[in-house]
Amino acid sequence: MKGIILAGGNGTRLYPLTKSISKQMLPVYDKPMIYYPLSVLMLAGIKEILIISTPRDIAGFLSLLGNGQKLGIKLEYAIQEEPNGLAEAFTIGESFIGDSPVALVLGDNVFYGSDFGSRLLESSALESGSIIFGCHVADPSAYGVVEVDNEMNIISVEEKPENPKSSFAIPGLYFFDNKVVEIAKNVQPSERGEKEITSIINEYRNNGELKVNIMGRGLAWLDTGTHEALLQASNFVEAIQKRQGLYVACIEEIAYRRQYISKSQLIELAEPLIKTDYGKYLLDIASEKTFQTNK
Ligand code: G1P
Repeated sequence: MKGIILAGGNGTRLYPLTKSISKQMLPVYDKPMIYYPLSVLMLAGIKEILIISTPRDIAGFLSLLGNGQKLGIKLEYAIQEEPNGLAEAFTIGESFIGDSPVALVLGDNVFYGSDFGSRLLESSALESGSIIFGCHVADPSAYGVVEVDNEMNIISVEEKPENPKSSFAIPGLYFFDNKVVEIAKNVQPSERGEKEITSIINEYRNNGELKVNIMGRGLAWLDTGTHEALLQASNFVEAIQKRQGLYVACIEEIAYRRQYISKSQLIELAEPLIKTDYGKYLLDIASEKTFQTNK
């Protein structure tokens, strides 16, 4: 399976923070936001990843992450000229996707939870159809919303409904088979002028090829869409890391634990960060001071 991170948009809800830099480059506590969705794809075992961003911001991501070689993965880059919607990721990424199934994660979505890694590995084994997730939130009207019955049959999928039919928002993480490329080509813009991911999801639902995984209380899906939410996400990550002594979305750690890079490569990655707790954490991992957890 291949993976796409969509890190586009103008980030106008975070102005003036995002007047000259990408939203997905902003800090969530101690690391750039894009580390979080990148860690999700890496935990899903995906090693070929396309990062899509704006003409202004793409160079920043390239300078941050390079071609991925240092992490033992392969990163490519593409431009979305205008914020025309999430569905465009699959047409922009058509040649990258080739004949593979593909996972899409949004560059501003932060996940944290126990056993999340195994769920991701299960999802990335998908060969046909599609998998989306459902997360209970207090106000689902700002998101895609999925309605299910007691047997987990999907009754409806709606984008930002005024009167949501359920409390399950659809987070920005989707797994599709290769048909998604052709489906995306036929998506028409919605009233807000965007090619919506929910149009693609509904197409899979109509064909009986959509599965929803409801995430329980043990999984946190954090918003980064407002100044307040961004600060809360940072505070959340700080609290977990300080208390547990285990880092969230530490891409170098994941690369090492998944054996994409060797111990000496990990130490090399730690060196420029050595003035920070992040760098010291990487060295602790290399010297096996940190307990090994795979999840
Ligand atoms: C997008 C999707 C929406 C999804 C959300 C998750 O919304 O359209 O279905 O629930 O991401 O972050 P947007 O961020 O474009 O408002």
